[in-house]
Order: sequence, then structure tokens, then C-alpha cells
Amino acid sequence: MEIIVVEKSPPLKGNVRVNGAKNSALPILAASLLGTEDIILEDVPKIKDVEIMCEVLRSLGAKVEVLDEGLIKINSKDLNNHITRYDLMNKMRASLLVMGPLLTRLGKTKSSLPGGCAIGTRPIDLHLKGFKALGATVETEHGNIGAYAERLIGDKIYLDFPSVGATENIMMAAAMAKGETIIDNAAMEPEIVDLQNFLNKLGANIKGAGTSTIKIKGVEKLGGASHQIIPDRIEAGTFMVAAAITGGDVVVDNVITSHIKPVIAKLKEAGVEIIENGESVRVIGSNKLKAVDVKTLPYPGFPTDMAAQFMALLTVCEGTSVVIETVFENRFMHVDELKRMGADIKIDGKSAIIRGIDNLTGAQVKASDLRAGAALILAGLIADGSTEIDNIHHIDRGYVDIEGRFRQLGAKISRRTIE
Ligand code: EPZ
Repeated sequence: MEIIVVEKSPPLKGNVRVNGAKNSALPILAASLLGTEDIILEDVPKIKDVEIMCEVLRSLGAKVEVLDEGLIKINSKDLNNHITRYDLMNKMRASLLVMGPLLTRLGKTKSSLPGGCAIGTRPIDLHLKGFKALGATVETEHGNIGAYAERLIGDKIYLDFPSVGATENIMMAAAMAKGETIIDNAAMEPEIVDLQNFLNKLGANIKGAGTSTIKIKGVEKLGGASHQIIPDRIEAGTFMVAAAITGGDVVVDNVITSHIKPVIAKLKEAGVEIIENGESVRVIGSNKLKAVDVKTLPYPGFPTDMAAQFMALLTVCEGTSVVIETVFENRFMHVDELKRMGADIKIDGKSAIIRGIDNLTGAQVKASDLRAGAALILAGLIADGSTEIDNIHHIDRGYVDIEGRFRQLGAKISRRTIE
């Protein structure tokens, strides 16, 4: 079994380049099932979740070739299966995103109901509401979910919650439906805009991504395209917090700063110096940071995927901070692990109250999801002694060579195999 060991490290210094966004690559890989000609994707992060999605596409009949670093070629001309295998669905919830493309391309899709995970039950009712609104018959039996339709018909769909996945699945299904579809209260994340841009390159006719109303005019057929995945705003935020928490001076490259405004604002509020320079952000931390309050919200609010990392920082900020999680019902699994490192945190429903302390102490901890894992690495960088992080497969799902990239900034971090 592998663990990551982090020793108390000097202030991080140097440059680090952000990879393509996991949460853009996954829906765009799924959307590649709609294309009938060659698709070339650039800057695809080399992470476990992308490997699993490529396996899902191949299991459906798509040709998928991983060319050199970050380049993937897909051809979905001859799809020959509409059923997503249980073991693949079970490995990664985002496999759900192939349902919309299959439904509109083949008229049928079947998958096992995704299980819950550490951060919540993760229902898919809004995805299914969208498919039904487009005229599909949806059946759930024996833990499987199937959707069928000769031809989807465009319609107006209101999302009770601006679900990222539901917005993406409905956009992809509606791309080849008959007539126009309007999604109201759509998610506005940058990854939705990236998906719209990719689909339009394939020949789709979609407008409004990035706002709460997305209009999709269905087309008969989609072709091929080349597309570069947008930078990962959460990976960028993670490295920025790493610079802040260690009092370092780090330049994070390949960042679209408009995608991480809330993180930049909150770091500045805490006393971190941030210098934006085009597609780079220089972050200069200090050891006199102040407590700040954070409330996670759908985009453009503070991202839920940054809450754990930011909470690691708040454990050593002067004063008392409150972090309120409004997106998922259980995204505080990392709190107990941070408390094992000496953090003073109390949970009250959806709120975590964090009293800043002078320093954390290293401990044996475990990652419950990929962002919690990243938070434990950040805490380990400043904790006295050594921190051993277990369940690091969660981290590898979303971060490329995490320890190598932290090491290049001066972190004392390594991956070890233990019995
Ligand atoms: C995407 O998950 C991301 N994953 C998540 O990132 C991210 O945390 C989340 O969006 C929110 O930004 C990918 O893009 C692959 P949602 P998704 O549907 O689409 C409820 C990471 O760390 N909901 O916006 O699953 C749901 O229970 C991962 O990279 C319904 O009630 O998120 C949750 O409370 C973690 N019914 C809320 O909406 C539905 O049908 C947000 O979920 C769908 C969702």
C-alpha cells in the first residue's frame, strides 16, 4: 500500500504550472462520444479519473489513443454499446456523464446507479429530470438506470439546483435533440463554458454557458475538432494556498485568474500578497495571516472543492474563522484528520468553526476524498514532525504527480510503499 509522507518544510519557492482541468476533461471526454470524426484533446491531465473515462469510452466502442503528454485522440464513429459497466461506474461517478451523449446518439443508455461517496449521497434526480423533459423513458431497476428515446425533443428545463453534472448531461443530450432546449438555473462553472466551446467546435449550436440560462438548438450530426482543456482552477488554488500556508513565494503558471476570483479575494483578506500577471499568479505568504470566513457556493461563489485546502490554512491563522459548506451535505471528513494534527475545529451542522493555533503537529491521517487529501498535504507542510497520509488513491484521481510538483517547490514530501 502506498502512503505520502510530508515533513515540516521550508517556505515553498519557485514556479509550478497548472495542468488541464480534471472537471473539464471528464465531461469533454464524455462529449467526444457525440463526434463522428477525429477529436484531438490537448492538456488532458494524466490522472486516474481520465484513465477510467478513456476505459469507459473504449467499452462503448470509441477508439481512444493516448498520444504524447496530455494529448488524446478519440474517434467515436462506430459506437457499439450503450451500457456502462458496473465496475467502471463504481470506480468513478463521472462515468454518469456518458448517459446524455449515448441517449441522444444511440437513443439508449444504461448504467448502474452511482453510489454515494465521502462527500454526500450524490443523487442524480436532476440528470433524470432533464432526460425525461427531453422525452426519454427512464427506468430504474436492480440498481441500474436506463433511458431510452427514438429521438429527443427539445424543451425547457428548470434545475432545482445549479448542478454541474446535470447541466453538462442535459447540454450533451440536447445537442442532437429535435428543436430547442433551454436550461434554466444552469450551473455557471468555467468547465460548462469549456464544454459549450468544445461542443460548438463539433458543430453544435449552444449559447449562454457561463450564465444561468443555456440555449441549445439541436443538430443532426456532430463532427470532429481539436480542443485544449482549460487550466484546473482548483489545482491552481491548491498551490496558491500551499504558498500562503508555508509563508513562501510561489509563481503559479497557466492560471485564468477570473476563474478563481473568490480564492484570490479570500487569500488577500487573510493577508496574503497576490500579484496577478497575465496567466501567472505570484503568491507571497506570511506567518501573520488572519482568520477569514468562507461560505462555499456554486460558481461564481467560493468553490466547494477549495474548502478543505483553505481550512488547512485557517487552522494556523490568527483568530476564529467560520467555513460554511452549502453545496454538499458532508464535506467535513477532513476535519477529524486535521484535529488529529492538533487543529482546533468544531462542527456545527454545515458550519466549521476554526480557532487559529500556533502550529500543527504531524500525525498518521487518511484522505477521504481528493480535496481532503490535498488539504492534509498542505497541513503536513507546516506541521512539526512528519505526517503520513493514507488512502492516497483519492489524491491520484485528481492531481498529477502531486508529490513531485510540491518537491520542485522545496517541499519535503515523498511517496512510500508500506506493507
Ligand atoms: C462536480 O460534481 C464536480 N465533479 C465536483 O468536483 C464538484 O465538487 C461539484 O461539481 C460542485 O462544483 C466533476 O465535475 C467531475 P453537482 P457534480 O451535481 O456534478 C446535488 C472534485 O473534487 N445534486 O453540482 O456531481 C448534489 O447532491 C469533485 O473534483 C442533486 O441533488 O456536482 C450536491 O449536493 C468533487 N441532484 C449538489 O447538487 C442531482 O441530480 C452539487 O452537485 C445532481 C446533484
